[in-house]
Amino acid sequence: MNNKIQAPVEPFRIKSIEPIPQLDAATREEKIRAAHFNLFKLDAEHVFIDLLTDSGTNAMSARQWAAIMEGDESYAGARSFRRFEKTVEDIFRMPYILPAHQGRVAENILFSTILKPGQFVPNNTHFDTTRANTLHKGGVPLDFPVDASSPAAETFFRGNMDIPALESFVKDKGAENIPVIILTVTNNSVGGLPVSMKNIRETAELCRRFEIPLFFDSARFAENSYFIKKYEQGFESHSVKQIAQEMFELGDGVMMSAKKDGLANIGGFIATKDLELARRMRELLILVEGYATYGGLAGRDLEALATGFEEVLAEDYLEYRISQVAYLGSLLEAAGLPIVKPTGGHAVFIDAGEFLPHIPTEQFPGQALAVALYRECGVRSVEIGSLMFGEGGDEESVDNFVPAPRELVRLAMPRRVYTNTHYEYIAAHAANIAKKKESLKGLKILSQPKLLRHFICDLEEISQQ
Ligand SMILES: Cc1ncc(COP(=O)(O)O)c(C=O)c1O
Repeated sequence: MNNKIQAPVEPFRIKSIEPIPQLDAATREEKIRAAHFNLFKLDAEHVFIDLLTDSGTNAMSARQWAAIMEGDESYAGARSFRRFEKTVEDIFRMPYILPAHQGRVAENILFSTILKPGQFVPNNTHFDTTRANTLHKGGVPLDFPVDASSPAAETFFRGNMDIPALESFVKDKGAENIPVIILTVTNNSVGGLPVSMKNIRETAELCRRFEIPLFFDSARFAENSYFIKKYEQGFESHSVKQIAQEMFELGDGVMMSAKKDGLANIGGFIATKDLELARRMRELLILVEGYATYGGLAGRDLEALATGFEEVLAEDYLEYRISQVAYLGSLLEAAGLPIVKPTGGHAVFIDAGEFLPHIPTEQFPGQALAVALYRECGVRSVEIGSLMFGEGGDEESVDNFVPAPRELVRLAMPRRVYTNTHYEYIAAHAANIAKKKESLKGLKILSQPKLLRHFICDLEEISQQ
């Protein structure tokens, strides 16, 4: 390994372990072919280091496991819900809190309640389920990411909303056609990059001026708050919790996939300051998820989450977490792979378009690299490029191919799960791929569904470039 790069020290020790068997190269080859080159279709037991997602893959602490034993499984008004509600209210500053089993349900409930067909939903950048849920209700999801290459972009906060573009859009379409504006913190789809408090304030001010509710998609709120503390002037002496509270006070509602910064394996919620909206959403929640005080979760899940929300705000944890992401980024760069810089809060993104210029966009260079990483060392990553966000590209619609803005591969890092040695192992194998990258092949889609195609489509390798 490269001795010049300092590995961050873990602020915990390991109490319980789970063995992870390694397949040989021939068996990996057999498995990736059987999965039709779609890494979502691999069985987890055939993966050595699973960086598919940081969602629901966290390791829980001894305190969380202890809290699980305190779970009150009463159908209505459980003590565990009251603890969850108190903790969420304290951090997220919203009085009406509805639990849900994961983030996309919160999205579905919000859009089912407030969105009329043909209306617009602006976001700094939609995550794929937010986009799909908006489309599913007949809405039009639109992204307003700040242009990170422009000199006006604040250096570190490249997850920001493009305020001038958003403002002219609102004026053009009319506030009455925009039922909500969403800020995703951190901005997952542009690299897990943070949104500054200045940008949050400006977005909130715009929302107030046009009387449009501001909602947060807060899956990674603690990571975003830590970046503000570290990189935004004036926040050095604030606690991460104070920053989170200040951020949420500026909004009208929050949706959260708590499978990320809830430090648990399942859970989510939707919260609002608006009693009438809460009433309408609660009716739907009871219809599709469960009673209003458990929302598809067990009492023990609510306990694990309440403890997780307390632990995720610990600054030694966040320092290690953000440094470990930067550490993997530095190791991959040293191995010869171009990465998106600066690194964000939960993942390293490799620029596969730049790394594999011999593979045309319509042959999914990101997917080709993700397949190569699995073949080389059993690592599972995910393409965030034209397979996930593009359109067309199969045999029937080859001429309608619409590419995504970039061809990235995301190595998402589960919280408190893998050690620095695992990441050093990946970087050593990535260096081998860099040496033989011209031999990597593009892919074509054999079959795909209408929405969220990357989860279930089948692909095949193209032998001739
Ligand atoms: C920013 C963001 N919003 C929403 C979601 C959806 O959450 P869930 O997977 O819990 O449904 C995710 C999941 O990764 C996400 O990253």
